Amino acid sequence: MNLAILGFGTVGTGVFNLVKQVSRLTEELHVKHILIRKNKKAAIPEMTADYDKILNDPEVDVVVEVLGGLEPAHQYILAALRHHKHVITANKAVIACYLQEFTQTAAENGVKFYFESSVGGGTPWISEIERAARIDDVNQIQGIFNGTSNFILDRMKKSGAAFGEVLAEAQELGYAEADPSADIDGWDIANKLCISCDIAYDCFVVPTKDLPVFGIRNITAADITAFAREGYTVKLMGKSHQEGNKFDYVVEPTLYQSNTFEANTHENYNLISLHGQTIGDLRFIGQGAGQLPTANAIIQDILDIYQSRNHLERNFKRQLTFQANLTKSNYL
Ligand code: HSE
Repeated sequence: MNLAILGFGTVGTGVFNLVKQVSRLTEELHVKHILIRKNKKAAIPEMTADYDKILNDPEVDVVVEVLGGLEPAHQYILAALRHHKHVITANKAVIACYLQEFTQTAAENGVKFYFESSVGGGTPWISEIERAARIDDVNQIQGIFNGTSNFILDRMKKSGAAFGEVLAEAQELGYAEADPSADIDGWDIANKLCISCDIAYDCFVVPTKDLPVFGIRNITAADITAFAREGYTVKLMGKSHQEGNKFDYVVEPTLYQSNTFEANTHENYNLISLHGQTIGDLRFIGQGAGQLPTANAIIQDILDIYQSRNHLERNFKRQLTFQANLTKSNYL
C-alpha cells in the first residue's frame, strides 16, 4: 500500500522511520511522497512541495496528514478524500472543527477517515470509545488528555523546577505543539474532549472561545509544594457528563489525593476514562504525546485500512518452537 505523508515534523518523521525500521511494515507499506513546505529543499527523493502531484498520483492509497493547524490541513484532507484516497490524521484542531464534514466526504467517496492518534497519543482511545458507544449509552468522559501539561506538572512537583524550564524540556522531547500555548492553556484538551464527546454522545460540538477552558500557565512551583503539603496533586483535566439532551463540559486544573490513579499518572502519560450504562467504568493509560507512540497509532490506522477494520486476517509466518519451562512452583 502506498502512502503520502503531509508534513515532516516530529510525527511525520516518526511515521516515516517506523515504516522503514519495522521489517513487517516495509513489506506492506511504502512511503511514496512526503509533502514539505514550498521554501524547503527536498532532502530525499520522496519529498515534494507540490500537493497536486500527490492528489493526481493514482498509486497513492492513503494520505497521512500531520501538518497541524486548521489551514491548509482542512482543504488538503477534503481534496484527498475527493480524490478517493483514505485519510489518516493526528491533527486534533482540524478534526474538532470539521469531523462532520470529513466523515460525510469520506462516506460520499467510499474511503476511510481515521484519527486514532489524535486523542490519547498511543492509547487506543478513539477505537474503544467507538466500540463502547455502538452498544452503550456513554454518559461520561474524563481524564488527563494532554501529555505536555502532565509532564510539566509532574516535573515541577518532583524537582521543584520552574514552569518555563520544564516546558522547554517538553518541547525538546517532542511532546508540545508547535505553539505550546494550546497545551498549557487547555485548548489541546478542549479539542480532544470535543472529538471524544462527538463520538460518545453522537453529537457535533466545535471548540469555541465561550467554552469553559482553563490552563496551567499561572500555577507556580510554590503552589504545587503547598498542594503537596496538604496531600494533593494538581492535574489538568478534561471532564464531560451527559444527561438527556444536555451535557456539561469543562477543562480545568483539579486537585487529587495522592492515592488516586490521577495523582499517580506521571511524565507524558494520559489517563482517560469513560463511563457507559452497561460497561461501567473503562480507563486507559498510555503515552499521550511523543513521536513514536503517535506514529504507532497512525500506523495502526493504516493497517486497519489495509486489513479492513476490526478484521485481522491471520497469516502466521514465523516458525517458533515452544519450549516448556516448568519448574516445581508452576504446578504446585
Ligand atoms: N501536544 C500534545 C500533548 C501532543 O502534549 O498531549 C499529543 O496530542
